[in-house]
Amino acid sequence: MAQKITVLECGPRDGWQNLQQILGTAQKLRYIDGLFACGVEAMEVTSFVSPRAIPQMADSSQVARYCVERYPDKRLFALIPNFRGAQNAYEAGIRNVTYVISLSESHNKANINRTHEQSFEELARILNAFPEFHICIGMATTFGCPFEGIPEISRVVDFVGRIEQAGVHELYLADTIGIADPRQVRETIAAVREACPGMGLQVHIHDTRGMGLVNTLAAIESGVEIVQSTLGGLGGCPFAPGASGNTATEDLVYMLHRMGYETGIDFDRLLALSKEQRQEVDGIYSGHHINIAAKSSCY
Ligand code: COA
Ligand code: ZN
Repeated sequence: MAQKITVLECGPRDGWQNLQQILGTAQKLRYIDGLFACGVEAMEVTSFVSPRAIPQMADSSQVARYCVERYPDKRLFALIPNFRGAQNAYEAGIRNVTYVISLSESHNKANINRTHEQSFEELARILNAFPEFHICIGMATTFGCPFEGIPEISRVVDFVGRIEQAGVHELYLADTIGIADPRQVRETIAAVREACPGMGLQVHIHDTRGMGLVNTLAAIESGVEIVQSTLGGLGGCPFAPGASGNTATEDLVYMLHRMGYETGIDFDRLLALSKEQRQEVDGIYSGHHINIAAKSSCY
């Protein structure tokens, strides 16, 4: 049987948070419906953050409530930066949350205005107050930071140990600025697995330097089974200068299917949806397939 890889779509959060324009809620829900109709099984549907920091996510409660009601059998994630976000996500019915902490303290300060100490303190409060939550840590700047450069792997391992000690058993290694290389991805995952074998690992890889697919594949070949991407490759971090473009979901699905992996996603429908988004929504797209004309497929 083909090996299953779960492609966790995070366009509705990471893709749209970075747009100049603010998408209307109805428009967002149309794309979310479209993505689920393609067979997507796991999605980060929004983030519960300060609307002053990220105005694009001001409708998070509406988006989350819609998804919770309409897609009770899908894995619905929302990103939260603090206790307030946890409360709002909980009230909207979300039970899978991504709590973001950056490995680099300077990025943590720029992104969520907290020291590591403060972020871990708040995590403890959230774990305590919301035992029903399944929490996944979004470990930003794992492979490099715009302010601090590329970390030693031992620092990554220590940080994962700290997360485990806090009582969390899943995280994603995020290449926030798309600076990783496949060897670094392999070595990081091997070291983390050795030190914390019980930790569930996902990856979230940006395509800033055209290495999104190779780095994601390096993670898959190191045993990671949940990988994140965005429709069209939209995305970036507003608080990481130079971060652009995620790995595009359609490019990733194409590669995985060609290699014999199973994703449950209908590639043709996904590509059509991505092309529609490209025509309708102005942004920086890193996806390659959306640039290929429909009739030009030549093998
Ligand atoms: N949801 C909605 N509003 C929130 C909020 C949340 N989760 N957390 C804080 N706020 C509001 C506060 O009510 C306050 O509003 P007011 O000024 O109108 O009273 C304002 O935001 C500032 O609150 P404060 O607790 O002082 O936060 P801060 O200035 O320390 O900012 C964050 C920290 C985390 C709220 C903010 O930086 C943020 O939302 N960042 C998001 C980063 C992000 O999404 N990055 C990309 C994804 S990795
Ligand atoms: Zn990202």
